[in-house]
Order: sequence, then structure tokens, then C-alpha cells
Amino acid sequence: MKKTVLAFSRITPPMVERLEQDFDVIVPDPKKGDIAAQFDEALPNAHGLIGAGRPLGARQLANAANLEVVSSVSVGYDNYDVAYFNERGIMLTNTPDVLTESTADLGFSLIMSSARRVAELDAWTKAGEWKATIAPSHFGTDVYGKTLGIVGMGNIGAAIARRGRLGFNMPILYSGNSRKPALEQELGAQFRSLDQLLAEADFVCLVVPLSEKTKHLISRRELALMKPSAILVNIARGPIVDEPALIEALQNGTLRGAGLDVYEKEPLAESPLFQLKNAVTLPHIGSATSETREAMANRAISNLTAALKGQRPQDLVNPQTFKG
Ligand code: DGY
Repeated sequence: MKKTVLAFSRITPPMVERLEQDFDVIVPDPKKGDIAAQFDEALPNAHGLIGAGRPLGARQLANAANLEVVSSVSVGYDNYDVAYFNERGIMLTNTPDVLTESTADLGFSLIMSSARRVAELDAWTKAGEWKATIAPSHFGTDVYGKTLGIVGMGNIGAAIARRGRLGFNMPILYSGNSRKPALEQELGAQFRSLDQLLAEADFVCLVVPLSEKTKHLISRRELALMKPSAILVNIARGPIVDEPALIEALQNGTLRGAGLDVYEKEPLAESPLFQLKNAVTLPHIGSATSETREAMANRAISNLTAALKGQRPQDLVNPQTFKG
């Protein structure tokens, strides 16, 4: 008998067909009514879940008696209660590597966009405001040659640092749990404490995973350490930054600008951030290119398929659950 897979997001119809070669596949369909209700109804029979953007822990999975694996179509896995998965012996997989370059592109486009006020001046031009040569009050700030601080030098952090160093001649500072001698060699990157990095960098890019330790890593105290001319970019997770404190700094001009892809609450339909010309606000699109999302889904399908066939998945987050 085929095992059952519940595909709850980010899986296209051709991918469902591919999964159907090995599994019975259930895809909640908004045309058939409430998605959450369909998800809950399918859970007791599901051996595998695949998708992203849904918090899963004891409360949501209490009825998932047959569940063997959750294959997340994301690199971040802060949505999942890993301790609970371990207790239940449920495998958790993610999709590293395949999104590194496109997420770094987005990080760099937030640096460029904030510094050169691209989104703000695009809106200004389209509003018919360009009636004379622009005034210095509309000038941006240079990126080339400025100091780039990377908080969390993992794969994505390193890809952003490469863009900065090789493309824009930026001195690179980084902070994190460990030194990266190879990147120090390759890019001349210099290790700093977080406080020191915040004080020195012109652009601070957050690329750390969300955990209890990194929640509100950047709060009022840390924002006050940054130069008033600096720009903060967050492509990691919203709760890493204390959002009200950031809004206050942007309103008061104690921080020049922010480029944000992530927020404390998502999706976000209303926020004081939307009133701020010095905040570029994107709807969590770090990995959202057609090519990358397809690569992520394919990687997630391979992980799921391996797990349900008793093989060790390539990207197993919690190896202690593998009973192969
Ligand atoms: C990830 O993969 O974690 C990105 O944030 C996209 O969800």
C-alpha cells in the first residue's frame, strides 16, 4: 500500500504528479473549502508532510499518529518544534544550498535599494513629482567602498559578503559563533563582537537563524550602537529585530534606513513601517524566484521520498530520528 503525503504549500501540480508515482497525495484546495480544516482532516493518515510557512508542534500534530517526516520547503526551520519532533521520532528536513545565491541577491538588492532610495524615488517619479532637477534632499548614499557587516556568516552571509567585497570593494566585518578562517583569507573578512560590528559597519546585514538566543538580538541598545548614517538589512527572520525599537530609530533619524524582507508578524498588511520613506519593505521574497523555488521544492521532494522509503534524507535536521 502507498504511503500518504499531505502537500500543504509550494508544491506545483507537476510536482504532485511526480510524488504520485510513489505516494497517495493530498493537496488542500481553497476551492473545496477551508484549507485549515482540510489539513486537519488529512493529518491522521499522513506519513509525510511537505510545504512551508506553517508552524508545526505538539498542538498541530497531536492527531498525526502516522507521521514519519516533515519536509520543509525552506532553509529556516524556526516554524517547527524540533524538541517535540525528536520526542515523537519525526524526521525534519530542510532545503539548504539551493537558495543561497538568490537570497544573497535579495539581500544585496535591499542594500542598494535602501542606500540609493530606489523604491522611494520610483514612487515619487510615478507620482508625477519630478518637475525639476532633484534636490540634495533626495540624494542617497554610496555603497561602493563602504563597510559591510554580516551578522551570521553562514552560506548566505558569505554569498552577500562576496558580492560586497568582489563587486563593491567593501571591507567585510562579521560576527557569529565561530571564526571563518577560509573567508578571512578569501575576502579579508574581519571578525568582530556584535557590538563592535554594529558600531563600525555602514551596512549591517542580518543572516542568523531565529532561535531563543537570537530573538530580539537587535533591540534598542544595539540600534543605538549603530552609526546614524548606517542602514540595517534583515533577510533572516523578523523577530531577530525588536520592530517597535527599529521603527522608533527610523522615525527619529537615529538610523538612516532599513531594508526589510521579514517582520515580527507575517503576512503584514498594516504597519507604521509603511509610512516610513527610509524603510524598504518587501513581502518575504528572499528565495522567491521561479528557478530557486523549483529547486527548493525538488530538493524537499527528494528528502521526503528518501525518508518515506527508509533511506537517510540528504538534509536531515534531526539525525537522531533516523532509524535506518
Ligand atoms: C527560507 O527558506 O527559510 C526562506 O526564508 C524562505 O522561506
